Parts: sequence; structure tokens; C-alpha cells
Amino acid sequence: MTSLQPGPVPDPTVSHSARIWNYWLGGKDNYAVDRQAGDKVAAMLPIIVVQARADRAFLGRAIRYLVRQEGIRQFLDIGTGLPTADNTHEVAQREAPESRIVYVDNDPLVLVHARALLTSAPEGSCAYVEGDLREPGKVLAEAAQTLDFTQPVALMLLGVLHHIPDTDEAYTIVRRLVSALAPGSFLAINHSTSAVSGEAMEEAVRHWNQVGTPSMTLRSPEQIAGFFDGLDLLPPGVVSCSQWRPAAGPSLEPPAEVDEFCGVARKA
Ligand SMILES: C[S@@+](CC[C@H](N)C(=O)[O-])C[C@H]1O[C@@H](n2cnc3c(N)ncnc32)[C@H](O)[C@@H]1O
Repeated sequence: MTSLQPGPVPDPTVSHSARIWNYWLGGKDNYAVDRQAGDKVAAMLPIIVVQARADRAFLGRAIRYLVRQEGIRQFLDIGTGLPTADNTHEVAQREAPESRIVYVDNDPLVLVHARALLTSAPEGSCAYVEGDLREPGKVLAEAAQTLDFTQPVALMLLGVLHHIPDTDEAYTIVRRLVSALAPGSFLAINHSTSAVSGEAMEEAVRHWNQVGTPSMTLRSPEQIAGFFDGLDLLPPGVVSCSQWRPAAGPSLEPPAEVDEFCGVARKA
């Protein structure tokens, strides 16, 4: 799990979450098999592309909030995805160039593209760790080479916990990671659910689980809220990510809900 060592060669015949996500976000780092799988899911659930982009927009709003309002300067972003517009370090360092970011992903293709994630402002730093969320101890040890865990850190788990099938294991992983954070740290989560689209989302995920890796497990908003147990959940609580502190716009209506629910919480 050493930073930027070559990993296994990506398999272009098997679709993968990071590359399909990249495709839905309008990126170019994907294979034909990913585009086919992405189109099939989008045909079943057209809102999925809006959802992917709403997830990414939440990342931007959450980071800006954490930097501006809470003074956070360290980020541990696990389940990074392929580089796209406004990666974590770009958003954070635009606000505070001295910010330090550690990216973690277990997809070999993300590793191949990781240099694009390492264009740190000179005042700050960025590191990439090829690591697995299911090994939180190893991830924390690697991250500690760049982050100072005696100071607050924002732990970003965006679009990744639904790749852990067992809910109790997912809770245990999050508790282990949070236990390593200093008081004043934050946990930000975005997680797929079927609370909005119901059967259409469940059907799309059943299809995904036949053709894509890693598998996805939908959870209810209540189960997603369970990740924040013991932490101080910030308003508005666990909501659809399109409705987490949306930017002011011309419409008086809140943005339409999507099946990615999120929350941000402080460790007291
Ligand atoms: C849907 S993408 C989310 C990307 C980004 N966080 C976002 O919200 O736009 C999920 C990412 O999690 C990664 N991932 C899945 N399971 C993982 C695990 N066990 N450990 C580390 N990364 C994982 C995938 O490789 C993929 O890059």
C-alpha cells in the first residue's frame, strides 16, 4: 500500500464503479464496457447522471463549508474516484492553499491517474495511497505520513460505503476511522439509497451487481444516519445530497431529491 507504486493492471473487460462514475461525470477515463454498463443503468434510471453530478456538487459545498466555517485544513478522502473537475484538493486549496489531502482508493485505474490528484499548491500537500477502506488501520498508518492526526481532519467517505455489503462491517470501519480523529474533526458521508426512486433504483442496482464491480448495497436514510452515531450531526442532518445546504439560486423551490443521502458531523 505504498504511495504511487504500480498496482495490478486494470481489466478493460470488466466494468468498474470508478470508471462508470467518471463516465457519468463527463470524464474520459473509462472503457467501452464501462460506457455500456453506465448507459444500461442510465436507461433504467435516467436520474442517475443527475445523481452523480449532485454527489460531486455536494463534495464541493461540504469542503468549502469545512474550510471556511470550521477552519479544516486536512482531508482524508477514501474512495476518491478518478480525477475529474474540482477534486478535493482543488476545492480545499482554492480556499486555503496550505490544506493537506490524502487520497485513498483501491482501484488500479485510479492509481494510474493519481498523478493528476497530486498537483498540490506549494503551500500544502497531497498524497495518494493505494489502499482499501476495509483495512482502516493500514489506511490510517499511511495517511499519518502526510496528515497530523493530533489536529482536526475531515474524513470524506463519499460514494464508497455502499461498496461494503455488510452494514455492521461498514459501521465498524467508520467507528475505527473516527476513533483515530482528533476532537474537532469531521465526518462527511454520501451514500446511495432507494428512498426517492424506490423500485427503479433497486432494479438498477440489481443490474449493476450483475455487471459491475464492486457490488453496491443500498441503505435507508436511517441506516445512513447510523454512521454518525456518537457525533454531532450538523443541520440539516441526513438528507438527499442535492438538499444539503444548496447554493442560493433563482428558484425558491429546493433542488429535486436524488438517491444519494449525505450528512456532515463533528467529533466533539
Ligand atoms: C462512486 S465512486 C465515488 C468517487 C468520489 N468519492 C465521488 O463521490 O465523486 C466510488 C469509489 O470508491 C472506490 N472504492 C470502492 N470500494 C473501495 C474500497 N473497499 N476501498 C477503497 N476504495 C474503494 C472505487 O474504486 C471508486 O473509485
